[in-house]
Amino acid sequence: MTHEELFRRARRVTPGGVHSPVRALRAVGGEPVFMQAGSGAFLEAADGKRFVDYCQAFGPLILGHAPATVTEAVTQAVERGWSYGAADTASLALAELITGQLPWAKQLRFVNSGTEAVMTALRIARAVTGRDKLLKFDGCYHGHVDAMLMRAGSGLAGAADSAGITAGVAADTLVAPLDDDDTLKEIFGTHGDIAAAIIEPLPANYGLLPQRRAFLQKLADLCRRHGTLLIFDEVITGFRVAFGGCVEQLNLQPDLVTWGKIIGGGFPVGAVAGRREYLEALAPVGEVYQAGTLSANPVAMTAGRATLEALLDGAAYARLEHLGQTLEDALSAAENLRLQRVGSLCWLAAEPGEPVRTPAAIAPTQSERYARLFHAALAAGVYLPPSPVEVAFLSTAHTAEQVLALADLIRQHF
Ligand SMILES: Cc1ncc(COP(=O)(O)O)c(C=O)c1O
Repeated sequence: MTHEELFRRARRVTPGGVHSPVRALRAVGGEPVFMQAGSGAFLEAADGKRFVDYCQAFGPLILGHAPATVTEAVTQAVERGWSYGAADTASLALAELITGQLPWAKQLRFVNSGTEAVMTALRIARAVTGRDKLLKFDGCYHGHVDAMLMRAGSGLAGAADSAGITAGVAADTLVAPLDDDDTLKEIFGTHGDIAAAIIEPLPANYGLLPQRRAFLQKLADLCRRHGTLLIFDEVITGFRVAFGGCVEQLNLQPDLVTWGKIIGGGFPVGAVAGRREYLEALAPVGEVYQAGTLSANPVAMTAGRATLEALLDGAAYARLEHLGQTLEDALSAAENLRLQRVGSLCWLAAEPGEPVRTPAAIAPTQSERYARLFHAALAAGVYLPPSPVEVAFLSTAHTAEQVLALADLIRQHF
């Protein structure tokens, strides 16, 4: 069956034929390629064609598709039954592994997605501060929580970026620009009642937009001064830029961290972590309600643990850095682009020159150039993230040869 036929069938039974909008490829044009298998660096399409995959499920698969260690652990876990709805040993093992490695994460609570982790962190912050207002940053994505689907509106109050969000919710979210210390100061000066400020410390959902450490430090200082909880959303960067994510890499300590993606090794897991007093605001200890039928599912916990264990000795990060550096070196002479990269997170900006740190600084030609590259890569057997503002993910399953071939495609088509 062709992709066109599959897409026609899929559109009959699900809106737009997909279960998450970016998969419909509207940002680059064309129709989706239906996949049926993944192995190492490769995705296999329904017609048997293979692609070197630089999307890697949008980040969870740091070891590539179906690595042997995770496959083995998960297979054994399935044989023990896959959902208990009770306290269990698999989630205890993963929680102890993480809190043992990252001493600042005194406690954590597992949920099923990054969105749930963010929703829970925000609820904790509102409960412990007794405040309603939230501050987010334009260009950061925090999942499809109502209060986070905001873009910068007039006068820094958020404007809903989705239909179906009440005016009341929108009014409680303030939206600040990235990389702008003065505006940040102004917002805290005007609003002394912000419960939480949430940021991707390395924004990776609207291009890769590395922030100056001084800007993040300023945010942390303002939060402390005003009794606002600082939440680092490390759903992408956690266990990716380093085992301890941006907290470790930047040596900055937020009050709460949200995780997703790698923490479940490609299975549905998210988590919120931080100080005991904040986590114990959650039921059954505290008054903040949060629950989940499938939370800390033992198969997902086992996948997460097998994945994180493979990262502990640091060799994976060294390999990813080497692959990233190989791509960077191969593109260093290209005069019409800029590779923005932190470790294994890579994003092509359509203009050389200064680092792009805000959505406003993204060149107008970005979309058109990226769409051209995407389709040329697809024809050459390379699957790139299907949006000009999504980052590409390297995995330990990629090889230097594959990365050099990617650089060739970029030089020719971007
Ligand atoms: C930084 C960040 N936060 C939250 C989310 C939402 O996570 P999920 O898609 O697992 O709900 C994402 C997803 O891409 C993300 O990148």
